[in-house]
Order: sequence, then structure tokens, then C-alpha cells
Amino acid sequence: MSARIAPSLLSADFAHLADEVAMCEAGGADMLHVDVMDGRFVPNLTFGAKVIETVRKLTSLPLDVHLMVVEPERYFDDFAAAGATGMTIHVEAAPHLHRQLARIRELGCRAGVALNPSTPLAHIRDVLPELDLVLVMSVNPGFGGQQFIPRALDRIREARTMLREARCDAALEVDGGVARRTIRSCWEAGADTFVAGNAIFSAADPRAEIGALRGECVVRA
Ligand code: DX5
Ligand code: ZN
Repeated sequence: MSARIAPSLLSADFAHLADEVAMCEAGGADMLHVDVMDGRFVPNLTFGAKVIETVRKLTSLPLDVHLMVVEPERYFDDFAAAGATGMTIHVEAAPHLHRQLARIRELGCRAGVALNPSTPLAHIRDVLPELDLVLVMSVNPGFGGQQFIPRALDRIREARTMLREARCDAALEVDGGVARRTIRSCWEAGADTFVAGNAIFSAADPRAEIGALRGECVVRA
């Protein structure tokens, strides 16, 4: 299996969104990561269903929608209708996690759960059968271009062990500060899906950077 790369559109040039999406496709991106922020769960504010719908029209790549919002269930129907392939909600914002994940799947989407750097992984142990993706945050969510938090590596290892022991084949994604200098250790720790914003969109050659990031991950049998 080779690493899956998910460019984060948060760092894209929105004046040229169609070109940015085409660049990601041409570079071999496996999916596009769409960061929805509400100014409440995180300090920053981004976009919602309208942008998901716009991107959906531009590409057939899977759309990996990351909901950094309180009461995420308020948006499930609209985001699914807009063309989200997967929706990842934060465990810190989801008191009824089991029901919320079930609803995402009911809508035909892949169900994901994200954990902030300080949230114990044990919080998701009892919902593993409901999960298609686990997202270990390697920055505090809210902004692109932040420094990778090294402790995330232990957390990826712990998550990989948890998934293996539960025979759960959910993807294990890492988000925040992923770049050439950090991706390989994340891969070796057991992550298989990598969100990268700044590393791709600020690269001299963004299209080539997607392959370069994947190339840092030695293929696991
Ligand atoms: C951070 C977002 C990330 C962000 C990553 O809150 O969830 O997806 O775009 O950006 P980089 O790769 O620049 O750290
Ligand atoms: Zn994200």
C-alpha cells in the first residue's frame, strides 16, 4: 500500500480555485481535504456547503471534509448533498459520537473522527466499528502553516495499535505540519493518509510536491 496524499484547500489560492484543483489532480492527489471552521470550535472561520458544492463540480476526486465546528450534525445533510465523500467530526464536539457517526454513514459518506493533540485516544475505542477514518491532529486545529507537534508520532503509533487489535481497517490520517521533513516518521508510525496544506501550496512546484511527499513514504507490503 502506498501513502495517500490529501492536499488541504485551506492553503489554496481561492481566486484560482479551479486551477488549484486541477493542479492537485495532475499531481496525483488521492483526495482533497476541505477544512470547515465555524469560529466557535476553532477561532477561525472558513467555508461551508457552497464551497464543497463548487469543488465537487471541479473534480471527481474524493472530498475529505474536516468539520471543525460545534454541533456538526447540523451540517451533515447539506454537506452530503453538496458532494462530500467523507465527513470527519471532532470527538471534542460530539457528545453523541456513536449516533453522529452512524448518521454520516446513513447519508452514504465515510465516517471519520478527529482528535485534538490533548484528547486521549481511548475516547474513540468504543466506536471503532462505526469508523472509516481516524484523524490524529498534529497541530491544534484552526490554521494552516503551523509547526508539527512531535508527540503526535506516539499518538499515531497508539492509534495504529488500537486499530490493529480491533481488526478495524479505518484509514489513519494525520493533519497539521505535514511536510517532507515530517511525513516519513508519520508513515513509519503507522499513518496512511496525509493532509498537507502549506507544504504543497507554498512549494516552488506544488504539483511535484504531492509526489515528493508520497515518495518520502517507503511502500509497505
Ligand atoms: C488545521 C487544518 C489543516 C490545515 C493543515 O486546522 O485542519 O487541514 O489546512 O495545514 P498545514 O498542512 O499547512 O499544517
Ligand atoms: Zn484539516
